[in-house]
Amino acid sequence: MATPSDSQTVEPQVADAEPAATTPFERLGGHPAIAAIVNRFYDLMEGDPAYAGLRAMHAPDLNPMRQSLAGFLAGWSGGPRDWFEANPGRCMMSVHKPFDITHELAGQWVDAMTRAIADAVPNDPQMRDAMTAVLEQMARGMGR
Ligand code: HEM
Repeated sequence: MATPSDSQTVEPQVADAEPAATTPFERLGGHPAIAAIVNRFYDLMEGDPAYAGLRAMHAPDLNPMRQSLAGFLAGWSGGPRDWFEANPGRCMMSVHKPFDITHELAGQWVDAMTRAIADAVPNDPQMRDAMTAVLEQMARGMGR
């Protein structure tokens, strides 16, 4: 195997390198990983009484939300942008305007999402923490 000292130049040996994950979407593991986070999130929302207030705001059938949040997160994390193409100009802040999102409800969202990411992304603490932090910031910004 070639080592840097074998090389005639100082250029990196890209052909030998591990393929780099280019986006958070890829690094997470693509659609299956996003689906695992989203499904865990809504399973927690449905099953844990700590999130009863958050659950009550949502429609009885959470399947459309499982699809929509997964589609949003895929594009948002640098993956396929189908959700954004199907929803041109839809902005997360305006989507949530009609809902009375108290600080407590935002906290429920953050708590359930933090647990969902921790459960679904067990082997990449850096990615887990970065994703949790940025979603927390977004959700806290919706609370009033
Ligand atoms: C701050 C706490 C939040 C609360 C209380 C909340 C609540 C809600 C509710 C009640 C709906 C409508 C659900 C339904 O029709 O059944 C909704 C839709 C949605 N939320 Fe949130 N949400 C929060 C934060 C977020 C964040 C941070 C994101 C993005 C990372 C997000 C992504 C979405 C998406 C993609 C939809 C569906 C939009 C659509 O398809 O039209 N939500 N949210």
